[in-house]
Amino acid sequence: MTLLVYGLTWMCICSGIFASQSRPTNTWAVQLHDGEKGAKALAESMDIVYVKHIFEDYYLFRERHDKRMTVDIRRALVNAESKVEWFQQQIPRERHLYSLEENANQTYIVPHFNDEHWQNNLQTYLYCGDVHMNVLPAWNRGHHGQGVVVGVVDDGVFSENPDLGPNIAEGLSYSIIGDSSDPTPSDAVFSHGTRCAGIIAAKANNGFCGVGVAPKAKIAGIQLFASAVADLTDADEAMALSHNSNNISIYSCSFGPSDYTNALGGPGPITLAAMKRSAEIGRGEKGSIYVFSAGNGGPYGDSCAYNGYINNIYTIGISAVLKDGSLANYDEACTSIFGVTYSREYGEKNATLVVPIGPDSCSTKFSGTSAAVAIGSGVISLVLSANNALSARDVQHMIARTSNSNGICRQTWKTNAAGFRVSDYCGFGLLDAGKLTSLAATWRSVSEQVVCTYKQLEDRLIQSDEQIKANVTVLPQSCLNRTIQHLEHVLLTVNITFPHRGHLRIVITSPQNTTSVIVPGRPTDEEPDLAWTFMTIHHWGERAEGTWLLHVENTHPQLNSTGVLHDWEVSFHGTIDAEVQDGDTDSSTVPPCGFVPVGDSNVIRHSTTLTLITLALVMMLCTQ
Ligand SMILES: *[C@@H]1O[C@H](CO)[C@@H](O)[C@H](O)[C@H]1NC(C)=O
Ligand SMILES: *[C@@H]1O[C@H](CO)[C@@H](O)[C@H](O)[C@H]1NC(C)=O
Ligand SMILES: *[C@@H]1O[C@H](CO)[C@@H](O)[C@H](O)[C@H]1NC(C)=O
Ligand SMILES: *[C@@H]1O[C@H](CO)[C@@H](O)[C@H](O)[C@H]1NC(C)=O
Ligand SMILES: *[C@@H]1O[C@H](CO)[C@@H](O)[C@H](O)[C@H]1NC(C)=O
Ligand SMILES: *[C@@H]1O[C@H](CO)[C@@H](O)[C@H](O)[C@H]1NC(C)=O
Ligand SMILES: *[C@@H]1O[C@H](CO)[C@@H](O)[C@H](O)[C@H]1NC(C)=O
Ligand SMILES: *[C@@H]1O[C@H](CO)[C@@H](O)[C@H](O)[C@H]1NC(C)=O
Repeated sequence: MTLLVYGLTWMCICSGIFASQSRPTNTWAVQLHDGEKGAKALAESMDIVYVKHIFEDYYLFRERHDKRMTVDIRRALVNAESKVEWFQQQIPRERHLYSLEENANQTYIVPHFNDEHWQNNLQTYLYCGDVHMNVLPAWNRGHHGQGVVVGVVDDGVFSENPDLGPNIAEGLSYSIIGDSSDPTPSDAVFSHGTRCAGIIAAKANNGFCGVGVAPKAKIAGIQLFASAVADLTDADEAMALSHNSNNISIYSCSFGPSDYTNALGGPGPITLAAMKRSAEIGRGEKGSIYVFSAGNGGPYGDSCAYNGYINNIYTIGISAVLKDGSLANYDEACTSIFGVTYSREYGEKNATLVVPIGPDSCSTKFSGTSAAVAIGSGVISLVLSANNALSARDVQHMIARTSNSNGICRQTWKTNAAGFRVSDYCGFGLLDAGKLTSLAATWRSVSEQVVCTYKQLEDRLIQSDEQIKANVTVLPQSCLNRTIQHLEHVLLTVNITFPHRGHLRIVITSPQNTTSVIVPGRPTDEEPDLAWTFMTIHHWGERAEGTWLLHVENTHPQLNSTGVLHDWEVSFHGTIDAEVQDGDTDSSTVPPCGFVPVGDSNVIRHSTTLTLITLALVMMLCTQ
């Protein structure tokens, strides 16, 4: 058994394990340092087509139609070694918008009033009741998302919709699929991105539809999908997630691998590199913020553990809770979910979620984690408008500190050794714009992130009916002569040969005795082998030092399957210094819905109260 220790390194451990059955495309991503000119010259010398710049020093080439010469291209790129740093033929991978849309034709509403649904109290989920985002304190302090641009990476945006037009960021939208600056969908049926954009930044007080969480934020439509399902290449995703990363603050991403086919997928190597770079130096070096959906695969037994987009240190993974604080039927569980926001159950009669659709319409019925992600992106826009100097990691720390766990997500909570309440379904809990914007005023930036990685070679047989127990010990001086005092993300990479990967359940336990079910298993997933990176944020704030335990278990011992745990690697992210921030987080109490002064609702409430008093008087009189 060997023990390797790395300090201060991000290891790109994911290339090569995102294998797909899809046929390769005729495009090639090539990394080279000679700039666009050099890329064009190289393409010419190889007699292939230069297509476009992807990001940084990555370029896209395409084979000529008349030739099928994959082998030649590979050879030519290898031989051009002095210029070519890295290359890969692009393979389409199936990705889904996490869409739960109801029959659009029945939910069209003709607008008559000034922000009608706001006036009709159909948007109380933003500010009152059991589950709400507490936006009023943020708004009252003047934080409406101004100065923040949110990139909605989706099926496009109808910028002529009255709720969006005024809030579209000038010159920042882009269509990856159309290779143009116009992200308008081909048909109003494709309004997923328009809905998400409206949740984030629908204009307030314009006599139409509803109000966004951050009604003064700007939207950049980044069109990556032409419909709800698309085969995307790594190059396409990398372009979308790094598009204009200096001017786009937040990438709102309500998509991921399929929810119902036991998919195991995530960002490929170029996308990971693009996210890493943008998260480190995008947004004027403060870091782009990625918000991704945990998925809607609950009914199919899916878990977001198998979704690489949220098992990623650069991502804020968001899931959903219903208006009474219960879990939605579609919710998935995993240890990488960061937090939850409000959403609707599909088909729920009593709950509304107001969104613009198409070029000129409005709906009160959107649902799923797509909507929850958009609400999360809106809340983070409010935070950045309160303090745009916050880094992407600052925002993660602040969410961990301020999210609410009371009264939601059943008994799924545990408290870790640093005092954070965490849940497999709800992360740190319900995002709270009031507390976040209050904390934003006094927050001091977190210190540099340190990464310590331990790799364990095991080659141990997994018997059908016994658990494998392994461990790794973090010594006080094992990371740059120090140790992580406050953990952030913990990443676990495993390489296991096993007949049915969905039957494997993997748990890690920290030295401070907090357990993360990092791989929960997936009953119907009978694909072989598991070589993948998972993440847990359930050890946030704990110390790294001590012995970490790994348990690998076969959940179907009666099948007598055996396998091999080849190796595993655990990567601790966190800070070395022992400093803990205190600081005011707004303790304003939840406003009861009946007393929020909007529209005509007060009149109704008052008359209801009067009626009750009258009734009570009548009853008193009658019983005498
Ligand atoms: C909605 O109406 C349009 C045009 O009237 C029609 O093409 C479309 O199929 C309808 N969609 C649904 C979901 O009924
Ligand atoms: C985006 O930011 C860059 C600086 O990186 C700036 O030069 C450019 O003008 C901005 N683009 C737009 C459309 O605002
Ligand atoms: C809708 O609300 C009514 C009255 O508040 C309640 O009785 C009913 O159970 C609710 N239905 C659902 C599906 O939540
Ligand atoms: C860690 O693993 C070693 C080697 O397998 C074993 O001897 C030791 O008892 C384990 N420690 C704990 C705390 O489980
Ligand atoms: C760790 O300490 C040793 C001995 O004091 C020293 O030689 C080494 O440079 C230190 N390493 C780091 C990364 O500070
Ligand atoms: C997993 O381990 C096997 C056996 O050591 C090795 O051949 C394979 O390349 C490893 N896979 C990954 C993705 O590391
Ligand atoms: C660790 O936690 C488990 C329950 O989660 C408990 O049963 C056990 O006693 C704890 N162990 C220690 C050493 O505190
Ligand atoms: C597994 O092994 C047990 C004991 O050897 C045997 O009774 C059982 O039939 C086996 N199950 C399968 C599915 O092969």
